[in-house]
Amino acid sequence: MIDNKTLEPLIQATVAKLQSLFGSAPEVAVVLGSGWAGAVQKVEDAQSLAYAELPAFPKPKVEGHVSEIVVGRIGEQRVVMLRGRAHTYESGECTGMAGALRSLKRWGCKVLLQTNASGSLRSQMPPGSLMLIADHINAPQRSPLVGELGSERFVDMSCAYDAELRSHAKAIAQAQNVMLGEGTYVWALGPQFETPAEIRVFSAWGADAVGMSTVPETILARHCGLRVMGLALMTNMAAGLSAEALTHALTLQQAEASGSRAAQFLADVVSGMAGLASLKSDA
Ligand code: HPA
Repeated sequence: MIDNKTLEPLIQATVAKLQSLFGSAPEVAVVLGSGWAGAVQKVEDAQSLAYAELPAFPKPKVEGHVSEIVVGRIGEQRVVMLRGRAHTYESGECTGMAGALRSLKRWGCKVLLQTNASGSLRSQMPPGSLMLIADHINAPQRSPLVGELGSERFVDMSCAYDAELRSHAKAIAQAQNVMLGEGTYVWALGPQFETPAEIRVFSAWGADAVGMSTVPETILARHCGLRVMGLALMTNMAAGLSAEALTHALTLQQAEASGSRAAQFLADVVSGMAGLASLKSDA
């Protein structure tokens, strides 16, 4: 695990590069998960830069996988999109996005809009459904803040998913006639899918969707003062809830099938953020 003393100069170099190439920071940063990649097509005046050029960003694991940021605007809202995230199941470390998120905050971003692909625990949210994340369950009880010092490490997680941003997403969904569920996301470490017994436990805990990402980044983002919003695309019913066996190929296929709808909704949510006064203030 990279310690803060090592990370700090990498963050400084990253912020300097972002500032010199793109000027002031967009208010909104978006992490694109599986199924959401089409949203980069919605970015106007887009300029991209490989993660490899940004020292605090995660090193790409799979060759041929896109790992880049895309900076531009959607309508009137400036945005930076992150294509590619570090998952805990790749390394066992849940701190993989720490340098990237802290760099974005230091650059001046205010909002981290996370997207992911999830398994659904609710029959009312079949594959293809979109869910706004209202809260999460950190099932592995892993924290990216282990080893941090200072009182800021005791982060309040009681309103981790920003209430104003959630209202905004719901208003956009209503205006665009998009079905948007709202619920609790449970993080499962992976990379194996869950057992039906695990899904029954998660269901009893009150989870509505399950996935292998998002929670470590939400914790990191709240720790450094970014406001968080999360959107989950249901790619399958969770284990034991449908007759279909779970495969990565199946989730990717469903993600592809729903991708353009998800991307359009995401674009509408981002462009609508231009009207949120709380993102324009210096606070
Ligand atoms: N479980 C965990 N992660 C997932 C799933 C799932 O069923 N579907 C997509 N990502």
